[in-house]
Amino acid sequence: MNKKGARYSQVMKELKNAYEQDYHFKDGGILGSMCTKPHPAALKAHSMFIESNLGNPGLYPGTKKLEEKVIRMLGSLLHNKNAYGHVTGGGTESNITALWIAKKVTKKKEVVFPESAHFSFHKACDLMDLTPVEIGLDKNYRMRIDEAEDKISDKTACVVGVAGTTELGVTDPVDKLSDICNEKTFLHVDAAFGGFVLPFLKELGYKTPDFDFKLKGVCSVTIDPHKMGMASVPAGALLLREKQYLKSISRKPVYLTGVQACISGTRCSASVPGTYATMKVLGRDGYRRIVKSCMDVTFYLSKRFKEIGLQLPVEPEMNIVCARMKNPIRIVKELDKKGWKISKTRKPRCIRGVVMPHVTRKVVDDFIPELKKVCRKNGEI
Ligand SMILES: Cc1ncc(COP(=O)(O)O)c(C=O)c1O
Repeated sequence: MNKKGARYSQVMKELKNAYEQDYHFKDGGILGSMCTKPHPAALKAHSMFIESNLGNPGLYPGTKKLEEKVIRMLGSLLHNKNAYGHVTGGGTESNITALWIAKKVTKKKEVVFPESAHFSFHKACDLMDLTPVEIGLDKNYRMRIDEAEDKISDKTACVVGVAGTTELGVTDPVDKLSDICNEKTFLHVDAAFGGFVLPFLKELGYKTPDFDFKLKGVCSVTIDPHKMGMASVPAGALLLREKQYLKSISRKPVYLTGVQACISGTRCSASVPGTYATMKVLGRDGYRRIVKSCMDVTFYLSKRFKEIGLQLPVEPEMNIVCARMKNPIRIVKELDKKGWKISKTRKPRCIRGVVMPHVTRKVVDDFIPELKKVCRKNGEI
C-alpha cells in the first residue's frame, strides 16, 4: 500500500481495466458456468444491504427476518415449510456444514457418497478427518444402490445423494437411499444445482425423481440460489429437517449479538435480501418460465451436438449437456483461445455445456461452427 492515498479517478480507471479483462455473461461466450447474470431485483437488493452482517445478527434484525423468510420459501419449494437452516456462501459451505452436523449428531466417521459427488465432500472429509466411502456409478451415471447398501454400516456418519450432478446433471435414486437410511442414518442431499430446476421441471410435466424432504429419510438439503435461483453471488442455503441439527453447531459468542450456527463468522449477507427479492419477484411462474426456456435451448444444443457427429453420454435431464471427446482438455483449450468458455468432465470424458439463462439459441448457433472446426482439426469427428 502507498503511504499517500491514490486519486479516486485513478483507482476507478484501474478497476475498469480489470473489469474489462473479465468475461461477462452478457457477452455470450460462457458455456460452462453454473451461475448467471443475477436478476435485477437481486442486484438492487444486494447493493441496498451491502453493510449487513448476519454474523452479528442483533444489529440486523431486518436482514435476519428476510433470512428466515428465505429459508421458509426454500423449505416450501422442497416440501418442508418448517425447515430450519441458513443462507451460506454456496454449495461448498452448505455441504461442509451438513457433514459437520452429521459428524456431531452421529459421532461417526464414514461418509458414503457417489463418485459423481462434488469435490466439496472430499474437502469436508479432509477438514474434519472423516473417511470418504465412494460408491461407483451405474450405466446412467447414478450412484449404484446395491453397492451403497453394502457399504452403509454402523460406522456411517452420513450418506449423500446428488440431485443434479455437477458434471452430467443426473439425479441419484434418493428415494431408495431414503428407504435404506430409514430415518436412522443421516441422509444429506446435494441439490445445489437441481434444487431450483427439478421442482419446476415437475410443474412443466417432466417425469422427475423425488429428491427432497418429501422423502422421510432426507435430513438435510443443499440448494444454491446463486445458481439457477438467479440470486447474487454468494448465496447458497442449507436446509435441515430438525432443529437439533442446527443446535448441534450453535455458538453464542459473548462479544456479538445473537447466535451463530454456521461456519462463517462475519458473513456476506447482502445476498439474503438479494435471494428474497428475486424469489418474490419471480414467483414459481417466473422460475418455471426460466427453466422452460433453458430446457428448450438445452435440447437445441444437444441436437446440434449430434448433427455435427458428437455423441452424448446421457440425454440431458436438466440444463446440462455433455458430448463425448477423446481429448476434452485439448478441445477446451482451443475453444478457450477463441473466447469460448466451455468446461470438461472427467468421467466420462466430455465437453460440458451448462445452459444457463444467458446461453441463448443465438449463442449456440455462433458456437457450433467453431466447435465443429476445432473437433475436425483434432480428429474428434
Ligand atoms: C452439485 C454441486 N454441489 C456443490 C457445488 C459447490 O457449489 P459452490 O461452487 O457454490 O460452492 C456445486 C458447484 O458446481 C455443484 O454442482
